[in-house]
Amino acid sequence: VNYKLIQVENPEKGADQFYQLIKEELENDRLHVLGLATGSTMIPVYRKLTESELDFSTVTTFNLDEYVGLSASSPNSYAYFMNDHLFSKKDFKETNIPNGMAEDLEEECKRYEAALQQAGLDIQLLGVGENGHIAFNEPGTPADSVTHVAELTDSTLGVNSQYFENDEKIPNTALTMGIASILSAKKLVLLAFGEKKRPAITKFLEGKVDPNWTITYLHDHQDVTIITDLDI
Ligand code: GLP
Repeated sequence: VNYKLIQVENPEKGADQFYQLIKEELENDRLHVLGLATGSTMIPVYRKLTESELDFSTVTTFNLDEYVGLSASSPNSYAYFMNDHLFSKKDFKETNIPNGMAEDLEEECKRYEAALQQAGLDIQLLGVGENGHIAFNEPGTPADSVTHVAELTDSTLGVNSQYFENDEKIPNTALTMGIASILSAKKLVLLAFGEKKRPAITKFLEGKVDPNWTITYLHDHQDVTIITDLDI
């Protein structure tokens, strides 16, 4: 197999594992461009990073995705989440998030993908949706997809709207890195905590690519680490 499975007791221990990995890569001068993710899974991870001494001032970041129509001032946007949990507490060389407010969304996707490819991701951090999506690559997204406008499924809208504040309605489209964008990273690290992620992890462990579970595209990559608290 091309992946490493790290089983931990709980999300805090999972965050410790990610921290160790990042620390080692930084110390060995192998981390210049870091792909970041959002979602509740990442909260203990970013807490661990902000409480640490790690210096990210030479690191450029690229986030996976953003809702269409939400600006950084909306508490429901991923830009807000990133400022709140990480960027307001640690200095980075440069941070990038797709602009969900762009007038021309197609153009914004092209611009983002080009910037990403120019920089070259060293590590991409990933969570997973209950339906097995990575970033906002919903079931059926092709392997050769790059940054694009994605339509969210009812399942994702249902799960993610639970976190929406201030009566803001969840957008049904988002800008997201594609499968090819994500797989272009040198190293992938996926975190999955809790029983709700069991179906996606089980599907991945079956060992073959199934476009209806986009997490399984990770089998097409040579350096994948999965950190989970599920006993599997
Ligand atoms: C969203 C994001 C994904 C993330 C998923 C899981 O759909 N686009 O990148 O992995 O949520 O979120 P959580 O960590 O809250 O379970």
